[in-house]
Amino acid sequence: MCTYINRRGQVIRVGVGSPRQTQIPPLELPRYGAERLSGIRCIATHLKPEPPNEAALTAMALQRLDALVVLNITGGGFTRRGGGVTGYVKEVYLAHLASNTNQLVLTQQLANSNTSLPTPQPPQDSAIYSHISPPLSLEALAEQDFIDLVEGLEAEFRREFIAQEVDADHDRVLIVGVLTDGKTVQQFQDTLAELARLVDTAGGDVLQTVQQKRSRIHPQTVVGEGKVQEIALTAQTLGANLVVFDRDLSPSQIRNLEAQIGVRVVDRTEVILDIFAQRAQSSAGKLQVELAQLEYMMPRLTGRGQAMSRLGGGIGTRGPGETKLETERRAIQKRISRLQQEVNQLQAHRSRLRQRRQHREVPSVALVGYTNAGKSTLLNALTNAEVYTADQLFATLDPTTRRLVIPHADTNEPQETLITDTVGFIHELPASLMDAFRATLEEVTEADALLHLVDLSHPAWLSHIRSVREILAQMPITPGPALVAFNKIDQVDSETLALAREEFPLAVFISASQRLGLETLRIRLSQLIEYAVDGE
Ligand code: GTP
Repeated sequence: MCTYINRRGQVIRVGVGSPRQTQIPPLELPRYGAERLSGIRCIATHLKPEPPNEAALTAMALQRLDALVVLNITGGGFTRRGGGVTGYVKEVYLAHLASNTNQLVLTQQLANSNTSLPTPQPPQDSAIYSHISPPLSLEALAEQDFIDLVEGLEAEFRREFIAQEVDADHDRVLIVGVLTDGKTVQQFQDTLAELARLVDTAGGDVLQTVQQKRSRIHPQTVVGEGKVQEIALTAQTLGANLVVFDRDLSPSQIRNLEAQIGVRVVDRTEVILDIFAQRAQSSAGKLQVELAQLEYMMPRLTGRGQAMSRLGGGIGTRGPGETKLETERRAIQKRISRLQQEVNQLQAHRSRLRQRRQHREVPSVALVGYTNAGKSTLLNALTNAEVYTADQLFATLDPTTRRLVIPHADTNEPQETLITDTVGFIHELPASLMDAFRATLEEVTEADALLHLVDLSHPAWLSHIRSVREILAQMPITPGPALVAFNKIDQVDSETLALAREEFPLAVFISASQRLGLETLRIRLSQLIEYAVDGE
């Protein structure tokens, strides 16, 4: 039996079963943060003379109990008629959490062992630090001043917490990846590494990645029950305030997971939307991001517990949409319609601009590529423009069009073309983003030709090419012919170069930052334009 008692000595809950079976769900616990305990202690009876086991200690850590007391009952047994336990308390164990700086007994190492997959980043120390007393007598336990004990512990936690909180405005993130059938381990690792970069770009600190291999997604919680517990415990131990899943989650999955884990849960799309929200500079960019966010949030509006309010900062809460998320659905629907109209106007405006350009018969090239391929760097190198570049995902959101002079394919005379840098692509670009950014993406579909830039130094370059092509294939208008240019060859070994040459014999090899191969690129671009314009 387990009895839960608050600091005023009142019994707040009694359960039949082990501390693990009777534990209080995270959402019913007070939320004080990593530097406090929950103010609740659990007194459990146990029929075998042994200290609290791993499951009991895990439950203690998950609930951040003030203390766990195990009373070992011996000398009795089940009575024949009454069904209860008779006997007396033989010995008592007192367990409590301990800060990991004062190096108390390390009782348990998290069970990362049920997957044998390598973690992309070195796992941080995710042990639960707890202290278990030697067997005590009931009298000795009764002399223990609990308030003194918990206040001492909380003072320690506070010191540790302050030491950890160097960057308080960063989300402390736990990433969860699920390897399902149909994905190779390599692809899975690439996705996780990319997700870690996305979280980093969004301004979060990735503390650890938890992985699970499953043949099928668990319909309610994505991962299995034991894994949810592990995630909850890891989040608790590391002081994570956000859990990011590597796939899209349904509203009910988010609800179930948040209820069991006790911290905010978001999916990959939300992280991408958050980055877009932070990056949007122009009013057109902001407009499209707001539309994307609202379209994504709309079906997810109901049922988020009060504790999980989206208001108040952090990944998935920023951007123009944030203040509206908790207002009425209808108002949001109205706003979506308005924004859609504005995007339509934007589309029309862009199309007039393009017509004017076409009128001047200036051929245009759209620069496409996976995010961080080096598109802005190339645009700068080719046109001496000053487009913002950074080693970040989605550094560019607004399309930039520049004049580019290249030799005419036939006459070799200088000829003017226009080149447009667009938003970076990413594997499984969220549908709401595809829709919202249609005005921007149209720059691609209506260009005379495409220059598809690939970061050859990225280990997943082949799958990046595939993802970009998949996104292009989803566009309503088929874009013009494409030239593949492999970038960052200054960082590529000869084997990769040879492989790329073999697979893509017509591609151009360049380094935008080192300005290598740019002359060849200009010549090949003019041939491409010639082909595109003549072909029409
Ligand atoms: P998004 O805005 O995310 O779509 O990125 P982008 O494709 O516009 O990439 P960007 O030009 O911002 O470059 C990304 C990073 O790659 C920057 O840190 C560049 O300095 C770097 N980079 C670009 N070209 C080269 C290159 O030829 N060699 C190397 N080593 N780095 C490069």
